[in-house]
Amino acid sequence: MRLILLGPPGAGKGTQCKRIVEKYGLTHLSSGDILRAERAAGTALGRKAQSYMDSGALVPDDVIIDMMAGAMQKAAGGYVLDGFPRTVAQAEGLDAALDKAGQTLDAIVNLVVDDEVIARRLTGRRSCPVCGAVYHIENLKPRVEGQCDKGCGPLVQRDDDKPQVVRARLKTYHEQTAAVVGYYQRRGRSVVEIDADRDIDDVTTALFAELDRLAG
Ligand code: AP5
Repeated sequence: MRLILLGPPGAGKGTQCKRIVEKYGLTHLSSGDILRAERAAGTALGRKAQSYMDSGALVPDDVIIDMMAGAMQKAAGGYVLDGFPRTVAQAEGLDAALDKAGQTLDAIVNLVVDDEVIARRLTGRRSCPVCGAVYHIENLKPRVEGQCDKGCGPLVQRDDDKPQVVRARLKTYHEQTAAVVGYYQRRGRSVVEIDADRDIDDVTTALFAELDRLAG
């Protein structure tokens, strides 16, 4: 199965992708996670991405399309794309990469949440810099405050989860990313909308129901 999970920053894409991966055995291809790993490793790509990410802007399309096309090629058993495509140019690049590989997408899902809810989610998010687990200071608390449940050590706040950068990311989303839904609809692709402003488990239940239906 090959899926795209669309939605604004903080919609819960990463949280739900981890559950999709467990249930359906797919590879989680998160453009944000790949970029953060490149930064942590100090690669040329990571250095190039740094200033865009820290300001809430998007990394240039050509860089992202090459990076994600390479990752997709290695995911033989199917994948769920998280955070990609984020512009119409990236959606076109993805279509070209799929055509070249003789592949199609099985589902495009859009998680829908209002901006005020997102702002609360992102400023309250805490992440484990070691294993990538994601928590929230109110909605998904770790067992011991400030510590990863898997014993990795202290949790951190992502630099781009500070209020000023969150506002910039939301602006970027509305100006450049929201149009991706229309891109697919104009091409006759069905985009499944899921109300993501509800309990994390309820969002998972709705998502799994859609994916089970598609998997037949
Ligand atoms: P990226 O890492 O992709 O960030 P994002 O899309 O902004 O998504 P997030 O990871 O912030 O949110 P999420 O939807 O995964 O939510 P989560 O599950 O963590 O990108 C970062 C940067 O990299 C971009 O700004 C850009 O610079 C660059 N970049 C990445 N991809 C790019 C691309 N394709 N092109 C160009 N540049 C790119 O949940 C958030 C919080 O809410 C958590 O604390 C969670 O516990 C909580 N939560 C989740 N669901 C619920 C719920 N239902 N109820 C209550 N709380 C919830």
